[in-house]
Amino acid sequence: MTHAERTSVTDRTDSARTDFARIDFAALPDDFAWGVATSAYQIEGAVAEDGRGRSIWDTYSHTPGKTDSGDTGDTACDHYHRWRGDIGLMRQLGVGAYRFSIAWPRIVPNGVGPVNAKGLAFYDRLVDGLLEAGITPSATLYHWDLPQALQDRGGWPERETAEHLAAYASAVAEKLGDRVRHWATLNEPLCSAWIGHLEGRMAPGVTDLTAAVRASYHLLLGHGLATQAIRAAAPEAEVGIVNNLSTVEPATGSEADAAAARRMDGHTNRWWLDPVHGRGFPADMREVYGVDLPERAGDLETIAQPLDWLGLNYYFPAVVTGEPSGPPPFARQVRRLHVPRTGMDWEIDAGGIETLLLRLTREYAPRKIYVTENGSAYPDVVRPEGTVEDPERTAYLHEHVTACARAARKGAPLAGYFAWSLMDNFEWAYGYDKRFGLFHVDYATQRRTLKDSGRHYAELIRSHPRRTPRAA
Ligand code: IFM
Repeated sequence: MTHAERTSVTDRTDSARTDFARIDFAALPDDFAWGVATSAYQIEGAVAEDGRGRSIWDTYSHTPGKTDSGDTGDTACDHYHRWRGDIGLMRQLGVGAYRFSIAWPRIVPNGVGPVNAKGLAFYDRLVDGLLEAGITPSATLYHWDLPQALQDRGGWPERETAEHLAAYASAVAEKLGDRVRHWATLNEPLCSAWIGHLEGRMAPGVTDLTAAVRASYHLLLGHGLATQAIRAAAPEAEVGIVNNLSTVEPATGSEADAAAARRMDGHTNRWWLDPVHGRGFPADMREVYGVDLPERAGDLETIAQPLDWLGLNYYFPAVVTGEPSGPPPFARQVRRLHVPRTGMDWEIDAGGIETLLLRLTREYAPRKIYVTENGSAYPDVVRPEGTVEDPERTAYLHEHVTACARAARKGAPLAGYFAWSLMDNFEWAYGYDKRFGLFHVDYATQRRTLKDSGRHYAELIRSHPRRTPRAA
């Protein structure tokens, strides 16, 4: 970036909120992973190519009324064909790491049975391309695109789905484990279980408490089994799980709101963290759900495999009140007035990421934590001169990175930060209307345009004085 470009970006942004001096870079380790993240269904497209099977998101997005404007991931960012150029975008940003997900239906198109060599070959090429560019690959096995064939057999409410995840993990780790060291089993199992099976706002669109609780259990069992499978195939692997967590505060000082906040904290945070740390499923939440878990002897030990790292996806805080007539956890977020929000209508609170990093450190003592996603959506436009001015996203990014460094200074073992997302993409039920990218995507032409926030991220990465230079 030239000095003139840098100055113009700074001029277009609130400089008090994006002051580099506020970031305690010295608190971050030398090998801190500055990265970007994406997921398969959100960017790849090519849904019928090279033997890929259908996923629950193909089915869901093609069901009328399920996504805004009827959008689907059929083409998305066409990354399946444009991946080389997309690695070029990462080089432009200067990131040292890329978190992507592998599409399970490309690897095991029928959910069970033979592995699809062409599907594996795509990720093989991608990984080689990343390594050639000096970018460390970080692979997530399950980012919500369950093979439809497994859904047809019952999906996550059924135990066999966890076992199939492990078989798929094994096939992928055997192929890529010589070059991919960083593995995540699941992305945001909360969304798969609660939003996909209780609220029905994501695939598979079920609204059934028993199904949701069973799904949550089998997702975590699948995590444990997949962790074992990855390690068996790739002993050097560093394995973790990615959760989307929120700070939870009661809306008022009432006892009812305090109890609602405890339930929401259990639903959002503890249900996902306690079992993988050997504490079992929280007793208070088992009571709230009132659903028998499909437990078998030894499952809790399987779920609690020691982890190399924890992934934190953070977007917004939750301020809650009781809602006795709603579904579990009988609590809902309140919409506070006069609080800044993103284009998703999510409250902005950078302090929340610091609070969560310190809570994870204090309560769960992880070896390492990665912020595996953090970002904001705004309705960006490409100006006639070819720029995308997004001062709100730039400020969001800067303030959250600043808060991460504060947490590191206070003792959080923070090993990396992955901005969500490399480029605009298919935002699930919101379709293409919500833009989270550091690059703007014109879906008609597939043209990518660097946003001001992307320039700012590049500058921020370069400002980490002890940063380990990229290998290439
Ligand atoms: O786009 C999603 C991603 O797939 C999972 N985490 C949250 C992002 C923004 O909603």
